[in-house]
Amino acid sequence: MKNYNIITLPGDGIGPEITTSAVEVLKEVSRHSELEFTIIEKEIGGKSIDLYDTPLTNDTLEACLSSDSVFLGAVGGPKWDNVEHDKKPEQALLKLRKSLSLFSNLRPANIFKALVHSSSLKPNIIEGTNIMIVRELTGGIYFGSPRGLEADRGWNTLEYTKKEVERIAHVSFKLAQSRSKNLVSVHKSNVLESSQFWQNIIHDVHKNYPDVMLSDMYVDNAAMQIIHNPKQFDVIVTQNLFGDILSDISAMITGSLGMLPSASIGDNFSMYEPVHGSAPDLAGKNIANPIASILSIAMMMGISFNEKTIESNLHQAVSDSLDAGYGTPDIVNDKNKNLSTVEFTELVIENYRKLLTNKD
Ligand code: IPM
Ligand code: MG
Repeated sequence: MKNYNIITLPGDGIGPEITTSAVEVLKEVSRHSELEFTIIEKEIGGKSIDLYDTPLTNDTLEACLSSDSVFLGAVGGPKWDNVEHDKKPEQALLKLRKSLSLFSNLRPANIFKALVHSSSLKPNIIEGTNIMIVRELTGGIYFGSPRGLEADRGWNTLEYTKKEVERIAHVSFKLAQSRSKNLVSVHKSNVLESSQFWQNIIHDVHKNYPDVMLSDMYVDNAAMQIIHNPKQFDVIVTQNLFGDILSDISAMITGSLGMLPSASIGDNFSMYEPVHGSAPDLAGKNIANPIASILSIAMMMGISFNEKTIESNLHQAVSDSLDAGYGTPDIVNDKNKNLSTVEFTELVIENYRKLLTNKD
């Protein structure tokens, strides 16, 4: 038996519901494997503000610092819109990413066959899309100083160091090597010095990976190209803010923001979270799409615990459930195939079980 200590941070809005789906999947994985999960739940975001007057307590942070991996639901909501900037729910997430040094954020966007018609883009444009966005997560304008907010001025700093760009470059080239060996570095070097710097370092690191094809793309063009011809991309590497924006854009290819998982990886820690936010309007209705959450657990299995078979089986179980025509209301219109969060999670678990029995 291998025992892993997992911290769950359900957070706000639909966070608790989709975290429940994640936990159910973890339990099922454990039932059919040599893996044992000790799951401990902690507060974060608005929930933590309400209880402790801070979005991230030391208790939660300490728990994450002694975990094997972390699963986060979502943070934020209109209830906390007017709290002061430093105390906003989102600050908890940023502090956590920084404290655990989770510098690389992997956001895959690939399309399930059954959902080719759910996207707002034409099927022939998106079919077969398989993009991996590598977003730098602990630097750039999100964290640069000086920063400030005054009555007549607000300002932030965009800065990258050699070390920061080098380490994300290595992660991206290695990932590209394991995929189609095609890396696009997205920046704005025609305008920003920090981007010129980024471009130079990426090209230096490229010398170590001659088998990978590297190209540069300005971020405005990249935003357009992702919609125009997403199949041209394999791995995209970019800075924190551009990655935030481009990953939402690429989410639309997949039909719903509720589909996208993510992994945030550092040298010692890892955190997995759906890309979607807290969706307060859907909260408490048992209609949120749990796929991003389930696929985030799949990524945890593959990346943090090196359980590639479990990862691909979970992926397959989601795919089989969609192939049968089922889904939550955001992706399936047919009333008879429209499932709740809990029901769809159960269906995925049932299909996961079927996959294992068929292989025996
Ligand atoms: C994301 C989110 C976060 C970000 C927010 C909630 C701080 O949009 O993970 O993409 O901007 O990084
Ligand atoms: Mg975002």
